[in-house]
Amino acid sequence: MKIGIDRIGLYSPHYYVALADVAAARNVDPNKYIIGIGQTEQAVPPSAEDVVTMGASAANEFIGDIDTSKIGLLVLGTETGIDASKSGAVVIQRLLQLPMGMRTFEIKQACYGGTAGLMAARDYVAAHPDKTALVIAADIARYGLASGGEVTQGAGAVAMLVSANPRIMTIEDDSVFISKDISDFWRPVYTDLALAKGKYSTEQYIEFFQTVWARYQQDTGRTLADFAAANFHLPYTKMGMKALKTALPAASAAVQERLLARYHESTIYSRRIGNIYTGSLYLALLSLLENTSALKAGDRLGMFSYGSGAVGEFYSGVLQPGYTDLLAAAKHVQELDARTELTVPEYEAMFNNKVPYAADDYATDPKAVVGAFRLEGVVKQERQYRRNDK
Ligand code: CAA
Repeated sequence: MKIGIDRIGLYSPHYYVALADVAAARNVDPNKYIIGIGQTEQAVPPSAEDVVTMGASAANEFIGDIDTSKIGLLVLGTETGIDASKSGAVVIQRLLQLPMGMRTFEIKQACYGGTAGLMAARDYVAAHPDKTALVIAADIARYGLASGGEVTQGAGAVAMLVSANPRIMTIEDDSVFISKDISDFWRPVYTDLALAKGKYSTEQYIEFFQTVWARYQQDTGRTLADFAAANFHLPYTKMGMKALKTALPAASAAVQERLLARYHESTIYSRRIGNIYTGSLYLALLSLLENTSALKAGDRLGMFSYGSGAVGEFYSGVLQPGYTDLLAAAKHVQELDARTELTVPEYEAMFNNKVPYAADDYATDPKAVVGAFRLEGVVKQERQYRRNDK
């Protein structure tokens, strides 16, 4: 039975800052950010948005088109959840007005959470072929103003419906994965700012990729020549390229040229949005599918997922006939183009205006432009959400 991604939706905030401006404010050569790191713009969420509102907005792109009574599982993959106990998935279930007869939970393993959710969904559909699963990968990447990781911040969500006989891409049963307890990136519970050992994290990302890619080749007998494209978790767009380049020398010149061209297309959205942690690999997938005419049904795509801490997984997907009919390239580009650009002081003010780590009531800016859902604030330590049109 074929199982995989039947629908995919994207949401990212309506505000961004240009990284050339951030570079100027930090006395850094802008080419370090734009060429060296590979990021041009960075999505900036107002405090009226969090992983719940963004995740619900991403799913809202297709929820009206699907039979929601078939959803048996709703998983939120996030590492920037809104509560240490209750999952954001149950709030998303309510905001999307989904039926109660489903399992809802949140998965955490750094940027691997989206893939963990997708694999749980794949297993669920294999056991219940008549049912579907909604997987949402949503995050706000925050390292702090003027921190080493600032250039790799971002915000957004990708939602995916997993079903039998998927219309976009199968998730093949060929996964190779490894887990190892390391401290390359983490976030203590008292803060919303992530900590990273920058250089070490990039080395570990590459090492995990090399390990799973070598095992994948052994297990399947496939080589790079079997792939029309390879998608990577993109904490910043240079990162996946660093990993890909370690594998390329084994391929022919034509295969190298093809994979590099597709890689470039897979980074177009990330370059403008930044790191969305759990959703980054799936943002790369969406960017590739919506920005190339070089792919066709039957093509095999490689997928490398990395979540610090750390888990690495490589698997493949096969594009399905008619998959382009389910995409929304023009809408996504129009939404990115329509965003409001912030000056650096405006970005810094938006960054600092956040739901506090305290028991106080808090109100978000009612004028902040948001997607289909809004966090109004916190009253008596409970988050207050609503649909924008209600
Ligand atoms: N023009 C062009 N390029 C320039 C330049 C200039 N003027 N100045 C510097 N560069 C290049 C450097 O040569 C370097 O290129 P290479 O990586 O190809 O060598 C690149 O710009 C970056 O320069 P540095 O290594 O000096 O950058 P940095 O010390 O500021 O650190 C970072 C970069 C490690 C990514 C840092 O931003 C960081 O810590 N980010 C957060 C952690 C992270 O994203 N880690 C990725 C792996 S972990 C993961 O994937 C999970 C996750 O999502 C967090």
